[in-house]
Formats: sequence, structure tokens, C-alpha cells
Amino acid sequence: MHRPIKKIVFPVAGLGTRFLPATKAIPKEMLPVLDKPLIQYAVEEAIEAGIEEIILVTGRNKQVMEDHFDHAYELEKILQEKGKEGALDVARSMLLEEGRIVYVRQMRPLGLGHAIWCARHLVNGDAFAVALPDDLIKGRPGTLKQMVDAYNETGGNMVATMDVAREDTSKYGVITPGAKSGNLVEVKGLVEKPHPADAPSTSAVVGRYILQPEVMEILSKTKAGAGGEIQLTDAMAQLIGKQPFHALSFEGKRFDCGSKMGWLMANLAMATEDPQLAPRLSSHLKELSQR
Ligand code: G1P
Repeated sequence: MHRPIKKIVFPVAGLGTRFLPATKAIPKEMLPVLDKPLIQYAVEEAIEAGIEEIILVTGRNKQVMEDHFDHAYELEKILQEKGKEGALDVARSMLLEEGRIVYVRQMRPLGLGHAIWCARHLVNGDAFAVALPDDLIKGRPGTLKQMVDAYNETGGNMVATMDVAREDTSKYGVITPGAKSGNLVEVKGLVEKPHPADAPSTSAVVGRYILQPEVMEILSKTKAGAGGEIQLTDAMAQLIGKQPFHALSFEGKRFDCGSKMGWLMANLAMATEDPQLAPRLSSHLKELSQR
């Protein structure tokens, strides 16, 4: 039996500089794709995977995320009085039982590895998942569910990977692949943002992880790496050889919603599947392309 995955850590303290000025006063995780904020897609994906405890590592100016997962009494009262039952259901759809979502602050921007380490007391010796909400992945089932299912067979640590163009390896964590079995491959090495000429493969880590709690001890000693930040990739690399470590080539389409193009493409992908929007959108796109 492997340690069950019942907890997830969402590092959501980042500044969202690629999306200024939109992210000056609102967190990038609250940017909507169609009508839902990014953080909600991520939390829904975690719940689908059977995860019970949601840990948000936040920062200053991120309080609005707490409000998003709480009652909005005035709004609910008005919707009730007006008999807008549909809107009321939507407004109440993300109200999880009290205590399932917990918040901890990352007080300094020291990197992804440091953000995960900030949750060490909440993770408290359990195996856990990590998801980066600006990596929105459309897939059925969701990527976290695909990973938890695979983990129940393999145990150990797992990252979700996709193939990228060689010139893009410097944007990602990149694996050295080992033996392959179906859509799983053994991870023999991990390096953060390698130069294309030095990248061990073009298999890049996207923002979904399953980790054993031992990574926390390693993180407490991990020095700043690529970009001068404490990198999760560097800490994970130290688990290789000590615990099972696999990469799952997930089924789904990933959008980097921290970038304008990725966010735009995610909106279009969602809209073209919405029966209310798709017909008008497609004729509008045709019109635009003929200009
Ligand atoms: C982070 C990780 C990187 C991973 C990427 C996926 O980088 O450090 O290993 O490949 O997320 O989106 P960031 O995009 O935060 O620079």
C-alpha cells in the first residue's frame, strides 16, 4: 500500500508580472478563463482526484481567493430575493466544508521550492500533490486523477510531462528518461530550465506533481538554483534513486495561462466547446481571419 494522496499544495503567491496591469490588484490565479477563475479549475481538478485537503500558499494581496471559497452573503441574499436560483447555485458551487481549504503565507518570493516548503507543517508527513494553477490542463479525466490512479500502482514521486520543442527547454524542468512502460517513464534525472543544447531530453515537466513528504527535509537545505530561486526541481532530483520516480505523459491539452497567448488559447478552447458560444465565436473568427 502506498501513502494515499489526500492533500494538495497550490503555490499561489506569485506576482503575475507577465500579466500586468491586470494582476496589479488581483491575483493571477483569479484571472478568468471564460467565467471561472484559474484557481477554481485547479481546485475542481483536485477534488475530482479524491483529494480532501487543499493548502493554498498565498502572499500579500491574495485575500480575494479566500473570499472566492467563502459565502458572499449580500450577493446570495439578492439572488435569492430575485428568484435567480441558477445564479445562486453557481455562486454557492465552491463552498467546501469548513477546514478543507487552509491558507499559509509565503512571506518572501524565494521560489517554487520555498513555497512548497512553507506548507511543511500542514503536509505533516503525508504524501501530497502539487498543482500550479496557471498551468490549466483540459483533459478527461483531469491530470491529477490520471496521476493519482497511476501513483496507486507505482507509489513514490511523479511529475506530469509533455514533449516540447527543443528551443523551449529553457522554460521548464526537463527529465532524463529511463525505462518506459505505457504512458509512464522512469525519471533518471531532473534539471531546471536547461539551455536547449544541454537539455537531457525534450520531455518537460508541467505544473502537476505527486511527492513524498521526504522532499520537505531536502527543501529545507536546498540552495538557490536557476534564476536565483529555491527550485522544487533541484529538491526532487535528490529523491531519484532513493524512491520510485516516474513521469506521466498525461492525456490532455495544457495551456500556460500565465502568458497572454496561453490564456487566450485556453479561452478559445473552452468557448469552442460551449454550445451557447461556439456558433457565434466561429463566425466571428472567420470574419477576423478575412480582414
Ligand atoms: C515551474 C517549474 C518548472 C516547470 C514549470 C511548468 O516553472 O519550476 O520546472 O516546468 O513550472 O509550468 P515556472 O513556469 O514557474 O518558471
